[in-house]
Amino acid sequence: MAHISAGIACSHVPAIGAAWDLGKAGDDYWKPLFEGFEFTKQWEKANKPDVVFLVYNDHATAFSLELIPTFAIGCGESFQPADEGWGARPVPVVEGAPELAAHIAQSVIEDEFDLTIVNKMDVDHGLTVPLSLMFGKVDQWPCKIIPFAVNVVQYPPPSGKRCYHLGKAIARAIKSFPEDLNVQIWGTGGMSHQLQGPRAGLINREWDNEFLDRLIENPEDLSKMPHIEYVREAGSEGVELVMWLIMRGALSAQVELVHRFYHVPASNTAVGHLILKNRD
Ligand code: DHB
Ligand code: FE
Repeated sequence: MAHISAGIACSHVPAIGAAWDLGKAGDDYWKPLFEGFEFTKQWEKANKPDVVFLVYNDHATAFSLELIPTFAIGCGESFQPADEGWGARPVPVVEGAPELAAHIAQSVIEDEFDLTIVNKMDVDHGLTVPLSLMFGKVDQWPCKIIPFAVNVVQYPPPSGKRCYHLGKAIARAIKSFPEDLNVQIWGTGGMSHQLQGPRAGLINREWDNEFLDRLIENPEDLSKMPHIEYVREAGSEGVELVMWLIMRGALSAQVELVHRFYHVPASNTAVGHLILKNRD
């Protein structure tokens, strides 16, 4: 049967992708950030997944204000890196896992979480930047990837509690797939950042680190946090963090912390990163 070996949390910022692609990873500004992912790149090589279930958000790239699915699962054979205005990132095409994705869609929908099924979409920095941070520069991504897009752009996003319980339904779905696959689940986006309005540039180091503590130790309690607290403490784009609760909900109550990293700032964003080993 398929099993979930680990959960990964990781922020995204388009400038991280640009720094990487333009060979600036060794610059004074970027070096401390990329160093925090050195351990992870080695760890991913030693613990290579067959499939990554990658929870991320689209930034009005594949979807627009014309169509806003709350939860969308990518069931296609492949997904092209998107052109977000400066040309597509020079990264490999994302190969999907259509059979597992279709199984998860059926299981999770029958488990009463209504997903939008997407057979064709481009994937933006929300998905490709975490891939670059985890796998580095490669000709081909080392595994199949199921993109799972969550609306955190247009009000109202799903609640943390809804995301946490959806993670549990995704875990039930993965564990009932009859092929012997090593699956990782990633929760991406966050941490504190606000890109607009009078509070643009907001970063809250103390709150972010408490969020990391609670995500590791007491996620059920954390899942009850209302949206207003994310926005007040972590800024308007900080609400991307609800996606990390999908990842955490898919793991065992107790997890083993393999790696923890926090760095500010990367562009306007606080970057958090965890590797959590599943005990199930
Ligand atoms: C930045 C962060 C984001 O999450 C995003 O989607 C775009 C930009 C930033 O910090 O620049
Ligand atoms: Fe974002």
